[in-house]
Amino acid sequence: MNDMEVKLVLIHTLGLLLLCATVTANYVRPLPRKPLHISSSHSNHPHQVHISLAGINHMRVTWITNDKNSPSYVEYGISPARYDTVAEGEYTSYSYMLYSSGKIHHTVIGPLEHNTTYFYRCGGYGPEFQLKTPPAQFPVTFAVAGDLGQTGWTKSTLDHIDQCNYDVYLLPGDLSYADRMQHLWDTFGELVEPLASTRPWMVTQGNHEKENILLLEDGFVSYNSRWKMPFEESGSTSNLYYSFETAGVHIIMLGSYADYDEYSEQYRWLNADLSKVDRERTPWLLVLFHAPWYNSNRAHQGEGDDMMAAMEPLLYAAGVDIVLAGHVHAYERSKRVYNGGLDPCGAVHITIGDGGNREGLAHRYINPQPKWSEFREDSFGHGELKIVNSTHAFWSWHRNDDDEAVKVDDIWITSLVSSGCLDKKRLKLMNILTNQATETDAFIYQLVE
Ligand SMILES: *[C@@H]1O[C@H](CO)[C@@H](O)[C@H](O)[C@H]1NC(C)=O
Ligand SMILES: *[C@@H]1O[C@H](CO)[C@@H](O)[C@H](O)[C@H]1NC(C)=O
Repeated sequence: MNDMEVKLVLIHTLGLLLLCATVTANYVRPLPRKPLHISSSHSNHPHQVHISLAGINHMRVTWITNDKNSPSYVEYGISPARYDTVAEGEYTSYSYMLYSSGKIHHTVIGPLEHNTTYFYRCGGYGPEFQLKTPPAQFPVTFAVAGDLGQTGWTKSTLDHIDQCNYDVYLLPGDLSYADRMQHLWDTFGELVEPLASTRPWMVTQGNHEKENILLLEDGFVSYNSRWKMPFEESGSTSNLYYSFETAGVHIIMLGSYADYDEYSEQYRWLNADLSKVDRERTPWLLVLFHAPWYNSNRAHQGEGDDMMAAMEPLLYAAGVDIVLAGHVHAYERSKRVYNGGLDPCGAVHITIGDGGNREGLAHRYINPQPKWSEFREDSFGHGELKIVNSTHAFWSWHRNDDDEAVKVDDIWITSLVSSGCLDKKRLKLMNILTNQATETDAFIYQLVE
């Protein structure tokens, strides 16, 4: 073939390809985007401000200062620039090889009114921020996306979350993708501040939070120092697992990278926490962790199996409504499942590790699609969970279609409380717990009562 012929063949092939593409799919999956260039703040002002729920009617404000003498108090009130209350907090810092963090401040404010905007300032100087507390009762809306990172796609996801009217953000692990480069924790803090300073961000750890180096035992030192969650408030001894309640929902954050077998501290704590859940007060029960138990993507196959074997019976017995996980860079929603199969009294499992990190998407699926898998797609995006009342919740998933959020999956989920599953389950739960250590006696006593 001469040059001309080659060109003609190419043009023809290209034309066919384009035709196929338009016939078979109108959505072209995007490539990963480059990391954003975010400069670390050199100003003396408080920066990397984020907030999290910290016990009933309280909020923890976290920020960083370069100035080691900067105080740890927060001034706040319900009118701009008029702060009638001051709360004193604590601070920490850490070193990691040659890196030394700024002064990391954690200050709990409250009691706060529900569904109310507060204006606040950190450390007595710098810019004013404002936050809105969650409502006391339904409806309440959660935004969800894991595996965020800090790329152009992360920015797109954050923009969409910012536009949805949410009360609390839930992040099932993998925040900054710093991967031992500590300054990337700082740039991540800057990137998320516009959102994380206005609504509580509740996070749990992913594998990218684990930054062990030889001799340095605590692999979670950066994560734990910067993203302190209400573990003490929920009776846990580790920042890697905790629980909180907001507007009729009890939410448990588990640690895929903390011990979870039945002799572990985490298991013991989970058992105790579940025993305290009052389904009259919080009809909905949600659980988050990083490595999914139900996953038909080829990425990270089987990584959640051990944790599932250890903990699924307990979650099932307790009547968990929805489980949210990350890790796999794609989206998948299951039907109600238990022990690998369909079960009307099991949880809906959602994998949503599609926040937009630099590693890109997980494209390869196991075929045929398993029976339990209801919807799966390898795109970046975010989820919204609107809990409407004690019986109904509306879940939707929004793909980043270039920079537009396009809703491609949604479903009404009815609570297990309203389905009659829980009465039968309470007996089962009792059986599981009786086989546990005597620490659960108090709970069994409570049930028998
Ligand atoms: C929260 O406040 C807004 C306006 O202030 C109001 O429209 C809304 O109904 C409130 N939500 C709840 C759940 O109380
Ligand atoms: C709960 O919300 C659903 C969906 O909007 C509605 O159909 C149902 O009647 C509501 N239930 C109660 C008890 O208000």
